[in-house]
Formats: sequence, C-alpha cells, structure tokens
Amino acid sequence: MPLLELRNVTRRFGGVVALDDVSLAVREGEIAGLIGPNGAGKTTAFNVITRLYKPDSGDVEFDGETLLGTPPHGVVRRGIARTFQNVELFPSMTVLENVLVGTHTRSGWLKGRQARRTAMDALEYVGLEHLAEQPAAGHPYGTLKRIEIARALAAQPKLLLLDEPAGGLSHEEVDELGTFITRMRAGFELTVLLVEHHMNLVMRISDSVHVLSFGQKIAAGTPVEVQRDPAVIEAYLGEGD
Ligand SMILES: Nc1ncnc2c1ncn2[C@@H]1O[C@H](COP(=O)(O)OP(=O)(O)O)[C@@H](O)[C@H]1O
Ligand SMILES: [Mg+2]
Repeated sequence: MPLLELRNVTRRFGGVVALDDVSLAVREGEIAGLIGPNGAGKTTAFNVITRLYKPDSGDVEFDGETLLGTPPHGVVRRGIARTFQNVELFPSMTVLENVLVGTHTRSGWLKGRQARRTAMDALEYVGLEHLAEQPAAGHPYGTLKRIEIARALAAQPKLLLLDEPAGGLSHEEVDELGTFITRMRAGFELTVLLVEHHMNLVMRISDSVHVLSFGQKIAAGTPVEVQRDPAVIEAYLGEGD
C-alpha cells in the first residue's frame, strides 16, 4: 500500500483545470519528485494534499485512509508537513518561535520544554541553532528556507512535502541541499515528495518522478525513464529553462 495516493484528482479554478484527473502514488520511504513546467499544477497538488484546496473530484489517501475528511489543521496530526514555494514565516517572531509553530505533531501539540527541545533539535539539524533568538526577518533566502524545513521537521512528520526548496539558492547550495534531503530522509525515516525545477537535483535524489503538464499527469517512472520520455521532453521544450 502506498503511503500517499491521489486518485483521479481534479481541481479547477474558473476555466483553468489546475489538476486534471491526476493519479499518483508515493511509496513509504521514497523520495518522489514532482516536476512540470510553470503552472503545471504542482503547488495545487500540495495544496490539495494539505487540504488548503478541496478537489472537485477524486480522492487523496494517506496511510490507507482518505484525507478528505481531515480539516487543514488536522493534516499535520496525520503526519504530513510541508514547506512553501514562497517562504511563509512570521517575520517579527524569532527563528525559534517560528519553529515552535511546527511542534504540532502526530501526538498533538508539544508543550513547554519538550516543544522547545524538539524545535532546537530541528534547528540544530539544519545548522541554525545559533540563530534561535534572532528575528526571522532579514536572513538570506537560503537560511529562511532552512528555517522552514526545521519547522516542518519539528512536526515529526511521516511525509514531507517540499515545494521548490532549491528556488533562489546558489549552485553550491543546491548540491548541498540534495545531500541534505537524502540524509534527512534517512535520519527521520521520512517519505519525501519533492517539487523542484532544478532537474539535476530531482534526477539525482529521486527514486521515482511524476510529471505534470497543464494539470495532466503525462509521465511517471524512474529518473532515467522520465528523462527519456518524449512527452516530457516536449512539455519542457517551450519552457526555455
Ligand atoms: N488559488 C488559485 N486561484 C486561481 N488560479 C489558481 C490558484 N492556484 C493555482 N491556480 C492556477 O492553477 C494552475 C496551476 O498552478 P500551480 O499549481 O501553482 O502550478 P505550479 O506549482 O506547477 O507552477 C495555474 O494556471 C495557476 O494560475
Ligand atoms: Mg508552484
């Protein structure tokens, strides 16, 4: 049984079909890449999985049970945490306070010292414990992205959704991020669904890759299979990146 399964999910915005009958399955323990040109529906898929958007039709199952009966605030409790394409932190709160927001885990809200320890451990894991008491605002983009990853880790998820974690990073940082995600998957026994534009990164660390284009799933397979797929090459030709 897959850990996460989208079954025939459709989501429209007015005339735009952001997800068009999309089915995909993510196995426990894998890093699954989700790629596709801009506007393909990748972030919408994350928003459907995390219950920010209701699908018009179809089902999303997690751990063998539908997610559609779970309200958005209950998703973390089911074991799903995410980062956002455009970093979403509380700028006036400290770095630690932002990570404490993440300490809503599968066993409920952590409290007091336990919450603090979990948050500090997560910050240490991403190498930012020295920034704990600083305001979250004003750090380089790469640092903000790491704070978001720490916040997601503090929720002790089974499934981590990363929405373009390499966006805005330097070449060197992108390389490091790939190694970091692989290490994090092992260290926290995570399953990872990775939306990313950096093809080298996706192809290097993913066990499987799913490809969306204009809301439709056009391919899935191993990185090698997907890279050779004519439909995938075609979808990216018009993109110029
Ligand atoms: N909240 C929304 N309201 C209206 N249109 C949306 C909304 N979210 C996404 N869309 C549209 O759905 C399509 C897919 O968007 P998105 O999922 O953000 O793509 P991707 O993340 O692959 O770049 C786009 O055409 C986008 O404009
Ligand atoms: Mg997106």
